[in-house]
Amino acid sequence: NKSEFGVIGLGVMGKSLSLNIAENGFNLSVYNRSEGDEANVVSDFLSKNESFQNISGYTNIEAFITSIEKPRKILMMIKAGAVVDAVINQLTPFLDTNDILIDGGNSYFLDTKRRHETLQKKDIHYIGCGISGGEEGARKGPSMMPGGNIDSYKLVAPILETISAKDKNNKPCCCFIANDGAGHFVKMIHNGIEYSEMQLLAELYGMMSLTMTNEAISEVFLNWNKTSLSSYLLEITAEILVAKEDDNYIIDTILDKAGNKGTGSWSSKLALEIGIPTTMMTSAVFARYLSSFKEKREFLSRRISSENSDQNIPNITILQHAYRFARIINHQQGFEIITEVAKENDWNINLSELSRIWTNGCIIRSELMQQISGLFKSKNDLFDDDFILNTLKSSETSIAELLKSAISNRVSLDTFWSAYNYWVSMTTRRLPANIIQAQRDYFGAHTYQKIDDNSSQFYHTNWTKNINSGL
Ligand code: 6PG
Repeated sequence: NKSEFGVIGLGVMGKSLSLNIAENGFNLSVYNRSEGDEANVVSDFLSKNESFQNISGYTNIEAFITSIEKPRKILMMIKAGAVVDAVINQLTPFLDTNDILIDGGNSYFLDTKRRHETLQKKDIHYIGCGISGGEEGARKGPSMMPGGNIDSYKLVAPILETISAKDKNNKPCCCFIANDGAGHFVKMIHNGIEYSEMQLLAELYGMMSLTMTNEAISEVFLNWNKTSLSSYLLEITAEILVAKEDDNYIIDTILDKAGNKGTGSWSSKLALEIGIPTTMMTSAVFARYLSSFKEKREFLSRRISSENSDQNIPNITILQHAYRFARIINHQQGFEIITEVAKENDWNINLSELSRIWTNGCIIRSELMQQISGLFKSKNDLFDDDFILNTLKSSETSIAELLKSAISNRVSLDTFWSAYNYWVSMTTRRLPANIIQAQRDYFGAHTYQKIDDNSSQFYHTNWTKNINSGL
């Protein structure tokens, strides 16, 4: 009896997905290499999960591959980067035409595009599938973002859609995103949005903890979680704040140095390259980097020791409105870069479907995502929606209050500031960019356009001659 599906890599995510697949009744082969620290991974996994009679384990790649029925459907759950190429090279000699290889890790989407092209020439189907939801999501139902080609997707859809999370109408949180690297691309931006959502909560905590206890902040977050602000990240942050070990709040014992695995900086780099101002995710990445300068911060904070704190923070309603404001801007920026990159790559990404599969299973699931999914049924841009614009407009004074208070309390709010600046610039008719253009033209003859000239003509001024010598 051959297996219907194969999983390569029994790390945290690979194990959980395997159990999810097996629990849903599919016969499954699992493979993990057997070297060094990983010597007993497969046998340990099998013996811990003896009740799953439909899982067979392998440490020999050829035996693993021959155990799967054709066309084979194999999911790789391995670390992004060169390892993926190495595993593909190791596998391909044993694969047959029409076999389907799925990369479920956080691979860079251009790598996925390249691998897709290479394997296509060998008639092997390649699916780059973003998977979100962490360990619990993988076990109980993640949000899945497969990209590749629609025909190969159709062959794996029955399995992927069964193991994925379900939305509020019980539809799978899994749908074909678009060709080649599109699935991994949207997962990367998902993570960029995730970075800002996490940072906003961290900044709120930083502000609120000036005057409030962990318990009190947690209670506020729990209350917000009963409103349209509800989200998975808000909920877990409320829980994190009150978790205790030996009578101590765990959060108070955690070193304030944030790590990362790269997807946030990839999103930011791409945004810089293509000229899309995803200012919030980029601020969130830099905020993590800045936090890691712990020793320098300690040293300087001793030298600067300031009493610049008025110990007054805005009331909870103001914080709530400011938070809502910043979250909308964050999502706007995320979907804006998706729209742009989809256009550039000829990917027909359905934003309503994409936001729908992000309403459950994934880390950025939220009530706002639910609303956005509805909105994208008739609109392509959050800023085309009157309700969104009115909400932003009416919350502007709240975020301004929060920022003023951050200044008087000397608290950094990188991501909230980015949200505010983006909104103000985006809604300002005339920005001081004319000065930049003039400066560029002055020192480098880079030319500029004129406000009263709608043609695409560029002008140059010989500035030194035109300077008013009355100075
Ligand atoms: C998810 C997460 C996950 C990501 C971790 C770590 O959607 O389940 O985005 O894929 O790998 O959150 O990311 P960082 O280490 O970069 O914070």
